[in-house]
Amino acid sequence: MDLKLNGKKALVFGSSTGIGRAIAESLMTEKADVLVNSRDSERLDKTVSELNAHGGVTADLTLKGHAEKATREAIEKLGGLDILVVNTGGPAKGAFADITTEQWEKDFQNLWLSFVDAVKVALPVMKKQGYGRILVVTSLAAKEPLPLLTTSNGLRSGLAGLCKSLANEVAADGITVNLLLPGYTNTDRLKDLKLSEEKVKQMVPAGRLGDPCELADLATFLASPKAGYITGQSIAVDGGVLRGF
Ligand SMILES: NC(=O)c1ccc[n+]([C@@H]2O[C@H](COP(=O)([O-])OP(=O)(O)OC[C@H]3O[C@@H](n4cnc5c(N)ncnc54)[C@H](OP(=O)(O)O)[C@@H]3O)[C@@H](O)[C@H]2O)c1
Repeated sequence: MDLKLNGKKALVFGSSTGIGRAIAESLMTEKADVLVNSRDSERLDKTVSELNAHGGVTADLTLKGHAEKATREAIEKLGGLDILVVNTGGPAKGAFADITTEQWEKDFQNLWLSFVDAVKVALPVMKKQGYGRILVVTSLAAKEPLPLLTTSNGLRSGLAGLCKSLANEVAADGITVNLLLPGYTNTDRLKDLKLSEEKVKQMVPAGRLGDPCELADLATFLASPKAGYITGQSIAVDGGVLRGF
């Protein structure tokens, strides 16, 4: 299938490793022009050169103003923006009693406001061209709370509501907004959470961890003109972990 992504301009946040990097690579396989992002300029340069990406923008999504500035910079470097993928680093781990107000604020900035700020900058450009694909990588936690991922559980379900409302507002402009919900996926983040791989596998009907490419290929399809009638959806890539409809 030709996804018709040749020359489409994409910014993928949080793309030096893991799921974000896999999305950047998958879009590039379809010949999109991709800008990658990391907090760290050395890691960014390394990623740009390893992937042979169009370029990169540094931004720390836990810091106010960074997502907005990076999106502006990306539009300038690419000469437009067709595809915006908001993928962030993972939020804090802890029970409700462990999470300080400062941590709530940091995770809100990271998981929520970075999305809002990037979208505010991207929308006028996408509206003008009558084409836009906005994707946000969240988590199973958006649908079913995960143990000790309090801020993720709280913030990501709200973000799903925001995306649904935004999707309706911009649908007639040729812009879609969809959420991708990774299940237990084989990345550094999963290692950082220090979960037993054996126990995780037992929880997953597929009996294995997800490969970041499996989510990335869906993201690439959703970013394409072929997926123009799919919007406002939260789609899990989780080997069957979510049991509800
Ligand atoms: N892996 C899983 O099983 C799983 C399950 C559910 C949900 N998720 C969610 O999916 C998202 C991606 O996860 P992943 O597994 O791919 O994580 P990962 O392997 O840790 O990769 C995170 C990416 O985000 C970047 N990043 C981290 N903090 C950042 C910041 N403050 N500003 C800008 N970029 C930042 C990292 O780059 P630099 O360090 O170079 O900045 C890296 O490229 C996370 O939000 C995670 O919570 C993952």
